[in-house]
Amino acid sequence: MALAVKEKIILALDVPNRRQAGEILCKFHGQISWVKIGLQLFCAEGPKVVRDARESGFRVFLDLKLHDIPNTVTNAIQAISNLGVEMLTVHCLGGPSMLDAAVSAAKEANIALLGVTCLTSMDENETRAIGYTASPTNVCLNLAKLANMFGLSGIVASPLEIRPIRHLFGDNFLIVTPGIRPKGSSLADQKRTLDPASAFQAGSDYLVIGRPLYTAPDPVAALNAIVKDIEQSTKPQTY
Ligand code: C5P
Repeated sequence: MALAVKEKIILALDVPNRRQAGEILCKFHGQISWVKIGLQLFCAEGPKVVRDARESGFRVFLDLKLHDIPNTVTNAIQAISNLGVEMLTVHCLGGPSMLDAAVSAAKEANIALLGVTCLTSMDENETRAIGYTASPTNVCLNLAKLANMFGLSGIVASPLEIRPIRHLFGDNFLIVTPGIRPKGSSLADQKRTLDPASAFQAGSDYLVIGRPLYTAPDPVAALNAIVKDIEQSTKPQTY
């Protein structure tokens, strides 16, 4: 059971350089399988950080949230196709032609493609400011429908949208959820959040957790506390 829960936690490696990334990888070696490399680290250090993580035995989710014209996105996916990345994000707002092209390139590269829906840092005020009249949940559901229609492997969504997405698309569509905050921890810039156990129970396939882990005084103890919490909440009740 512990192994199954840890396999579903993706550590967001949001640090400024390769040295700090290496220190975190060392701490979590043998503890979790997945790391997420995002814009900060990839912009600073490039593909070598992906190779570092692979060589240390981690599976890599490359979160570049690609959002450009179909030709550019296709070329970007081809450029990373030999890095050993297993999951990659594109932004669903790129629209049908871009998603279509991205899916073809990702299939060719054997990478699971995830569509970013509505950022977990956006609440109703933020979505209104960019011209949406629908709620963040409905924005997310519309973009998830588009991702599903164009054959993406799944989506990235806030944990608050797990149940309606699962209801629409069943189990064969990955739901990856950032915006995970253990009870009592700081929300920082995240707005649509849930605690790890509730997100797990709602049916998230993968919980993306960054600051609550890597800024903790003892990151591995913080991971173990989250895993324990999830296991306790999923134990069948005995009467
Ligand atoms: O530190 P924290 O747990 O908030 O990290 C969340 C991670 O998930 C960050 O790397 C962020 O870029 C990413 N993410 C997100 N919301 C999305 C998509 C990705 O927070 N909608």
